Amino acid sequence: MKVHILDQILNNRKRILVTGGAGFIGGALIRKLLSDSSAKIFNLDKFGYASNQDSINKKINLLGQSALERYKVLKLNLANFDQVNQAIKIAKPDLIFHLAAESHVDRSIDSPYEFISSNILGTFNLLESVRTFWNELPLKRKEIFRFHHISTDEVYGTLGNEGKFSELSTYRPNSPYSATKASSDHLVNAWHQTYGIPTVITNCSNNFGPWQYPEKLIPLAIFNALHEKKIRIYGDGQNVRDWLYVEDHVDGLLIAANKGKVGKSYCIGGFGETTNKDVVLKICKLLNKLSPNKTDYETQIEYVEDRPGHDKRYAIDSDLIQKELGWIPNNSFEESLEITVKWYIENQDWCEKLFLKSGYFGERVGLKNNQNYKN
Ligand code: NAD
Ligand code: TYD
Repeated sequence: MKVHILDQILNNRKRILVTGGAGFIGGALIRKLLSDSSAKIFNLDKFGYASNQDSINKKINLLGQSALERYKVLKLNLANFDQVNQAIKIAKPDLIFHLAAESHVDRSIDSPYEFISSNILGTFNLLESVRTFWNELPLKRKEIFRFHHISTDEVYGTLGNEGKFSELSTYRPNSPYSATKASSDHLVNAWHQTYGIPTVITNCSNNFGPWQYPEKLIPLAIFNALHEKKIRIYGDGQNVRDWLYVEDHVDGLLIAANKGKVGKSYCIGGFGETTNKDVVLKICKLLNKLSPNKTDYETQIEYVEDRPGHDKRYAIDSDLIQKELGWIPNNSFEESLEITVKWYIENQDWCEKLFLKSGYFGERVGLKNNQNYKN
């Protein structure tokens, strides 16, 4: 019989609801739960432009019938309260990982309403359904129940050249995306303080890895490079992000949800602080090695007009989760970037299929309100 190494950490949490499980991070989490636990998994997702289940289907094919029987999709929009309520009644979860959100800053600049609806109203609807459900649980299940809200370091705004964000940093979001994520964090905290829902929040840095829809810096740069398009760097390329490999993030989520203190927040960083220019140069170097072209990929780099309200620098102090819960990332930025570049080289069909489905082909977004911009 297969030993499920995660069952011990899950500590009797046998029914797990993942919202946003058809997205990048949710998909990685579900794959891990399917292969390393015996829990029943419910994937609540609206199946938006960035969603797909290919990675999960591939995992289920590998694992066989028992995994298929433990997995159920609940296709719905969190903005619809009645449907959310119904989904909670079906899933009867012991643990919720709430990842569903509109997640791309550039899109939030062009179309903020979607972000208000999914990230704020969606979180409110989920919390309200959970409140009724949790209140009616028998004491034992009530005690083990956890609501884990997955958020971002962008709620803290921007840093200068020095310092790092921690759990004590002040909320100062600057983009429509980060403002909606900050709002949802506040809702989750309020539902804990006021109604007693056992919550945990994590605020992580920029994720990257295989199976990410190619609209954010790393997968988009790789995709555009491979398709002989311009690799766009916003502004002077000196903005800094802290890059976290998605598999390391998933390990952090599993520890924080199950071992984290109720009502607390934990920051999860990747020890991967890098300027955007250096990220793109590293990608070009890897492509030159792994998929050489007649010309150096660097010649495709183009510096373009900056993003409106562009946060200068993000960096995370992961001391608390390290000391309290023993989490540290297992992969260096360099190693995981190479794995990621290789994966995109080998899976170009997958990106093209997603683009055909969504009608986006790697063009610039986020300047719709700027009259002078021509794509
Ligand atoms: P993603 O865009 O790949 O996936 C998000 C998923 O949520 C999609 O499948 C989408 O269909 C679903 N969704 C959105 N609105 C919904 C709604 N109203 N109802 C139901 N489903 C809905 O995003 P991701 O990168 O996997 O991010 C997951 C979570 O992690 C988000 O909450 C995001 O804010 C947070 N986060 C992401 C990063 C990152 O670098 N990707 C960093 C920090 C925090
Ligand atoms: P992104 O991946 O969109 O994540 P976030 O805005 O949530 O940090 O962007 C990462 C950084 O890369 C950010 O500073 C903006 C920059 N960027 C580019 O320079 N070019 C691009 O084409 C994109 C999408 C982002």
